[in-house]
Amino acid sequence: MSDAKKLAAEKAIDYVEDGMIVGVGTGSTVAYFIDALAAWKDRIQGAVSSSEQSTARLKSHGIDVIDLNAAGPLSLYVDGADECDPRKHLIKGGGAALTREKIIAEASAKFVCIVDPSKRVDVLGRFPLPVEVIPMARSLVAREIVRLTGGQPVWRDGVVTDNGNVILDVHNLSIVDPVAMERELNQIPGVVSVGLFARRPADVVIVGGQPPQVF
Ligand code: 5RP
Repeated sequence: MSDAKKLAAEKAIDYVEDGMIVGVGTGSTVAYFIDALAAWKDRIQGAVSSSEQSTARLKSHGIDVIDLNAAGPLSLYVDGADECDPRKHLIKGGGAALTREKIIAEASAKFVCIVDPSKRVDVLGRFPLPVEVIPMARSLVAREIVRLTGGQPVWRDGVVTDNGNVILDVHNLSIVDPVAMERELNQIPGVVSVGLFARRPADVVIVGGQPPQVF
């Protein structure tokens, strides 16, 4: 799959333009994108990063990392996903960076999602849905998730997000209405963000292959 990830990431460079500040996601597919973006480092203003991991890689290539508050609205955000449905609704957060990813996606005019073919599904939910939670609310949120969805939340033991929070991965979901589920789970006190990107889906999905498929 790493070839497919690289092909998707390299295709996403087509969306980069001179002078841009580029929003950059997190994960192994995005790592290929950052490597490809290195060739553009003197043509872009810099990048807004969604994680410490991506920040380190961007800086290792000499790409300026800019605070989102200073950058303002972005033209382009490029990120991977754990699952993608035909309507470009996504599950994200396998790398625990969902909250910052969601913030940057919201701030961006165009969200280009880069995936390998294994990420495509008809209905979201085979991949356990990540939910970032304030630590003291972990059990409360888990109980509410069971009550509301029937899914099974599992604490991602040992993982602390860049924001100091914990992750619950919700198993056994079949998410037929991702917008409604995102809205409902967002209401639970203690939930920081839900790894459903449905209210603000991707605008373009690039599926790595020879040639890459764009939809
Ligand atoms: C990180 C994410 C990633 O985009 C998602 O997990 C996909 O990762 P990869 O490109 O390594 O398959 O949401 O929080």
